[in-house]
Amino acid sequence: MSIFDVAVWKNGRVCMMDQRLLPDEEVYLEFDSAKEVADAIRDMVVRGAPAIGCATAFGVAVEAKRIAAAQGIPASWSEAMAEGMQTLRQSRPTAVNLAWALDRMQPLLDSTPKEDVPKRLLQEAEDIRLEDIESCKTMGRLGAEILPRPKGRPLSIMTHCNAGALATAGYGTALGVIRAARDLLKDIKVYANETRPYLQGARLTSWELLKDGIDTTLLTDNMVGHIMSQGLIDVVVVGTDRMAANGDVANKIGTYTVAVLAKRHNIPFIVAGPLSTIDLQTPDGSGIPIEERPPEEVTHCMGKRTAPLGVRVRNPAFDITPAELVTAIVTEKGVVTEPTTAKIKKLFE
Ligand code: MRU
Repeated sequence: MSIFDVAVWKNGRVCMMDQRLLPDEEVYLEFDSAKEVADAIRDMVVRGAPAIGCATAFGVAVEAKRIAAAQGIPASWSEAMAEGMQTLRQSRPTAVNLAWALDRMQPLLDSTPKEDVPKRLLQEAEDIRLEDIESCKTMGRLGAEILPRPKGRPLSIMTHCNAGALATAGYGTALGVIRAARDLLKDIKVYANETRPYLQGARLTSWELLKDGIDTTLLTDNMVGHIMSQGLIDVVVVGTDRMAANGDVANKIGTYTVAVLAKRHNIPFIVAGPLSTIDLQTPDGSGIPIEERPPEEVTHCMGKRTAPLGVRVRNPAFDITPAELVTAIVTEKGVVTEPTTAKIKKLFE
C-alpha cells in the first residue's frame, strides 16, 4: 500500500503533503502554528474528514510548542491556546472530525501538569493518527466482507470524491474497503467519478489507486447514470464528512445524485466512516452545515476561466444523502444495514 505523509509530525513541525499539486507533484510542506495549519486546512493542502482531524490535532500540538518557546509555560494553557483552537475550529465547517479532534485535545490542557502539556498534546495527536489507520484497516476488512461477489468477472465498484489514504491518516475509508476487497477477492475494478469542481476523483483517487495497481476507470460525474444503466456497477462505496445521528450522510457534492441513481438501478450504496465522523448531537442531515466554497472553483477549471464574467455561481461543497438511500454503513465498530438512530447509537455502547 502506498504511504503518504498526509499529516504527520516531523522535525518538530507538522508535515503535510500539498494535495493541491497532485497528481503532478509530490511536495511536502511544514507548519509551525495553529494558524498556519488552519490556513492549510482552509486552502485544501490537506482535506478529507479524518485527515483534517489528524491535521487539527497536530496543529494543537505545534501551537503549544510555539507558545512554550515564545513565552515559556503559561499560567493557563486553556487561555493561551484559546485563539489558536478557535482559528482551527473555524477553518472548515462540514467535516466533524475537526471539532471532534479539538474536543479530544481540549481537556488535556487543564488535566495535564503544565510542564507536560506540549508533550502530552503531541502524544494525543499521534494516538489519533495511529487509531485512524487502525480504524480504516478494520473498516476495510468489514466492508470487503459485505460486498457482492459476482461469479466469473471482476467486482465493479464505483466511488465518488477521494476517501482514500489521502483523506485519512493512511489507507482510507471507502478506498480502505476497496483495498481490502482487492486483497480478499483479487479481481476488482473501480470506477472513480471525477468530482467537479475540485476534481478529487480525477486528481487524487485515480492517482492513489493507480499507484496501488488497482484497475481504475475515470468518469465525469454526468456519466454515472449511463454507466449504471449499462449494468457496469455492482456496488457504490463512498466516505463521509459527517454522518447525522439518524444515518443521513454529508459527503462531497454529487454523492446524493450517485445515491439516487444507485437506488434507481438497485445497486447497493455503502458508506464507510469511523465513529469520529458520526455526529450524535445532530439528529438528521438538515442540521449539518454545508460549506460554500469560492465561485472561482466553478467559473474556472485548472486556472482557466470557463464561464462568462458576471454569471451568478453556487458552490456547495457537500450534499446530504438521506439514510433511506444508504444500504449499509461500515464503521470500525461494525456494519449497520438500513441505518436508523437506534442502530447507530448502539455502535457507541
Ligand atoms: O472537500 P474535501 O476534499 O475535504 O471532501 C472530502 C470528502 O468529501 C470525502 O469523501 C470525505 O471526507 C470522506 S474522507 C475519508
